[in-house]
Amino acid sequence: MQTIPLGVSSLTSSRLAYGCWRVAGTWEPAEVTAASRAAGRQAIIAAYEAGYTLFDNADIYCRGEAERILGQVLKEVGGMRERVLVVTKGGIRPGGDPQPESPGRYDFSAAYLIDACEQSLRRLGIETIDLYLLHRPDYLADPQEVARAFAQLKAAGKVRFFGVSNFRPSLLTALQAACPMPLMAHQVEISLAKLDAFTDGTLDQCLIERITPMAWSPLAAGLIGGGADHLLPSQKSYRTELFLPALDALAGERGVSRTVVALAWLLKHPARIQPIIGTIKPERIREAAEAADVDLTREEWYRLLVAARGEPVP
Ligand SMILES: NC(=O)c1ccc[n+]([C@@H]2O[C@H](COP(=O)([O-])OP(=O)(O)OC[C@H]3O[C@@H](n4cnc5c(N)ncnc54)[C@H](OP(=O)(O)O)[C@@H]3O)[C@@H](O)[C@H]2O)c1
Repeated sequence: MQTIPLGVSSLTSSRLAYGCWRVAGTWEPAEVTAASRAAGRQAIIAAYEAGYTLFDNADIYCRGEAERILGQVLKEVGGMRERVLVVTKGGIRPGGDPQPESPGRYDFSAAYLIDACEQSLRRLGIETIDLYLLHRPDYLADPQEVARAFAQLKAAGKVRFFGVSNFRPSLLTALQAACPMPLMAHQVEISLAKLDAFTDGTLDQCLIERITPMAWSPLAAGLIGGGADHLLPSQKSYRTELFLPALDALAGERGVSRTVVALAWLLKHPARIQPIIGTIKPERIREAAEAADVDLTREEWYRLLVAARGEPVP
């Protein structure tokens, strides 16, 4: 697969990334079975064999089970750890932690971030996380305190590079101003069903700062594809009927699948959006990789944008 640099770092990644959100087969640790774990392992191996070299994860994915499954594969597959980038996220505290009545919340305190990162390292069974992301903006985020935590994690060799996810551009600017190191990635939801990043300043900022935009739910969590097993509440109102006919028409002209065109549409943006592929089906993981070889024309790109907007550009 083609590669891209990750932000201004020395790291190089496959053009598309593989996401481990769904690899445990369930959101509930108590529901994980030997079979669901094996399917997740198979998905990660299929992605590695198809040329994906960046694996995205988070401490809250099935409460750490997704990190454990990736860690198991990294241990089993000889040479894999040296060839791939491990990305994980922290900063979200589920309800019930530490007291039963504690609310679900965000926590960017230095003590919490450092501890969360160390726990991720243990579950992943590795010495160093290549890229550590703040998962969702903490309402009480103090850029100076986060910068201290980042500097400490980096000095201890626990994290190589840092980034954010789901931030407003202004909060990213505030954090960057406090951090001694450049932030490398901003992970946000981008797809034909979720266009905000194109107009809310997120992608502009990525272009200015040379930050890699990583697109989560690039297929709208499955709505652009064979169907969606699990949607986030915000994804339930997506109007895919607006653009699926245009997508299918273009896929027919190009002789590729609808999902390949939807991913190629993201790849066209000059900020070098990196879609994070979330299917656990090996054949779909391989098919998504075909998008790296499809270069849409500007006219084709706008045909899909106009359909997704539901109205012509002004
Ligand atoms: N930073 C954040 O806040 C955040 C939030 C959400 C996700 N993420 C990251 O983004 C990654 C991708 O998110 P996502 O899983 O929602 O991505 P996605 O690729 O938009 O959706 C994947 C889902 O679509 C289904 N699907 C149906 N037809 C498909 C087809 N033809 N090809 C591919 N998939 C098809 C898959 O089911 P099957 O498995 O049955 O194929 C799977 O359930 C996650 O793994 C995670 O790493 C980050």
